Amino acid sequence: MKGLILAGGAGSRLYPLTLVASKQLQPVYDKPMIYHPLTTLIEGGVREICLISTPHDLPRFKQLLGDGSRMGISIEYREQAKPEGIAQAFLIAESFIGNDAVALILGDNIFYGNNGFGEAFAEFTSGATIFGYHVHDPERYGVVEFDADGKAISIEEKPKEPKSNYAVPGLYIYDNDVVEITKNTKPSARGELEITAVNVEYLRRGTLRVEKLSRGFAWLDAGTSTSLHEASAYVQTIESRTGIKIGCPEEAAFRNGFLSSSQLATIAADMPHCEYRAYLENVIQESHRIENSKSR
Ligand code: DAU
Repeated sequence: MKGLILAGGAGSRLYPLTLVASKQLQPVYDKPMIYHPLTTLIEGGVREICLISTPHDLPRFKQLLGDGSRMGISIEYREQAKPEGIAQAFLIAESFIGNDAVALILGDNIFYGNNGFGEAFAEFTSGATIFGYHVHDPERYGVVEFDADGKAISIEEKPKEPKSNYAVPGLYIYDNDVVEITKNTKPSARGELEITAVNVEYLRRGTLRVEKLSRGFAWLDAGTSTSLHEASAYVQTIESRTGIKIGCPEEAAFRNGFLSSSQLATIAADMPHCEYRAYLENVIQESHRIENSKSR
């Protein structure tokens, strides 16, 4: 499965922060925001990733992430000249996707908790898999309605009168039909190729799966100054209590077998002496301790 990260847009709600660095490069406590969706894809077992952003911001992402080898993955880059809709990602990255299935994640979506997407990635074979997350303000999102058996029966983009409290978060898994479906999708009234229109088409075909995310799972939005601050506070609280980092792509790559412990050690040794490096060194030491105790 290929992975797409959509990290464009003007970030106007974070102005003036976004005058010099795009929204997805802003810090969420101790890491750039983009580390979070990147980690989610790596945790899902995705190794080939294409990052899409504006011509203006793309060089900064390249500077930060390079070709991905420092994270045990490969990263390609594509430009989105204008923000003409989330689904446009499938057209921009058509040659990258090739004949594969594809997971799309929005660059400002932060997920955390109980391996929420593990099964969805592992068990995906065809059609589309999206998620439903209970929120208090569904009118801000794509909203999915379920029948009494828990089957999805409608999806609407930012409805004035939402039919449920279940918002559709910004992680979507599709089979290769998504490219053809997007090509046949007409821009909405706001002039965008809507991801909701793609999901509605899969629903019409009877191949859409919507999984409800459990109560213990966190989906954070970091698109405004307030929500960015709240996301930072959340990450800081969990990290300082547990000593475990949220959104650490090198660690996720190591735990998924994309990096060996000696590769991770080399990558850490290239970093300046800092808390991030010390954390990765501790991850390696802990894994050695576990290995040693097994062989005793
Ligand atoms: O966050 C989940 C929601 O994301 C879904 O529930 C909605 O169905 C979906 O339409 C989307 O709603 P938003 O109003 O949050 O979308 P927004 O236009 O803010 O774009 C989300 C991110 O994607 C944002 O960081 C900018 C980026 N983006 C967006 C568009 C339309 C691009 O990079 N290019 C684009 O063309």
